[in-house]
Amino acid sequence: MTVLIIGGNGFLGAELVRQAVSAGLHPAATFHSRPGDDGRATWHHLNLRDPIRLEKVLDTVAPAVLINASSGGADWAVTAEGGLRLAQAAAGRSIRLVHVSSDAVFSGTGRDRYIESCLPDPLTPYGAAKAAAETAVRLLYPDAAVARTSLIIGHGRSEHERLVHALAAGTLQGALFTDDIRCPVHVTDLAAALWEITRSDAAGVFHLAGPDALSRYELGELIARRDGLDPARLPSARRSGTGLPGGLEVRLDSRTTQQRLRTRLRGAREFLSANSPGR
Ligand SMILES: NC(=O)c1ccc[n+]([C@@H]2O[C@H](COP(=O)([O-])OP(=O)(O)OC[C@H]3O[C@@H](n4cnc5c(N)ncnc54)[C@H](OP(=O)(O)O)[C@@H]3O)[C@@H](O)[C@H]2O)c1
Repeated sequence: MTVLIIGGNGFLGAELVRQAVSAGLHPAATFHSRPGDDGRATWHHLNLRDPIRLEKVLDTVAPAVLINASSGGADWAVTAEGGLRLAQAAAGRSIRLVHVSSDAVFSGTGRDRYIESCLPDPLTPYGAAKAAAETAVRLLYPDAAVARTSLIIGHGRSEHERLVHALAAGTLQGALFTDDIRCPVHVTDLAAALWEITRSDAAGVFHLAGPDALSRYELGELIARRDGLDPARLPSARRSGTGLPGGLEVRLDSRTTQQRLRTRLRGAREFLSANSPGR
């Protein structure tokens, strides 16, 4: 099986590459600004703004499956249009497509939890671009899978873990919000679940978040304890009233997806506890 991971040198993409290699595959992967450091993958430069380059990469690799783990943030041309172009190309070539989306597609207002059938109501440019991309994927390629996820954590390498270390060390000014709720997931669990979905022919929307809903501050405390830092050094604040855009309480409910998977999506309290393997 020839697999292509878009954004293979990103945080999630690197774990997808690692698991593909462990499964005996020789994955192809793309980078935008810097090649990945895993020599067991074949690396291709790709800017999702460039449709001709995308076709060239697909011609060269001829993948049977494709996972889009790229992130262009709020850049519409990359995140929204790039996701759409990938869906068009994958549908035209009958390539199995799994597209990674985000809980940022939701506003956090009007409902306690979001299930797979909930439609996006984004509040931020990033959320709007992710919502546009996942809508394009669903409508242009109904056989594709869209996997929404939440804060991705693991091995100390996520932006969230690095932020906690910088705040605890006092090298960065800022605070962790006590009223900003998400359902973090471990990168190893997420990548395993994505591969499981990729290997199946399951289509539609999936939720791949952990079962524990907790604030960014609570998450910071757990990361600090795991890493031997003093949680009391972490500054806290409330986000409501700051005027910062984005949903406050966004709980992805992954129970329906979990019932369909062998991979268990652990909650943050479990995977950040002292005796959890592969923290
Ligand atoms: N991290 C989270 O907490 C979180 C939460 C919810 C959802 N997600 C979703 O999970 C997925 C993976 O996130 P991540 O944190 O692993 O992302 P990441 O570490 O920021 O990696 C982003 C990847 O996208 C590539 N990329 C950036 N601009 C590109 C462009 N113009 N054309 C092609 N590729 C481009 C980057 O390549 P270079 O590094 O070479 O520039 C990199 O490989 C994304 O879909 C994201 O929206 C993440």
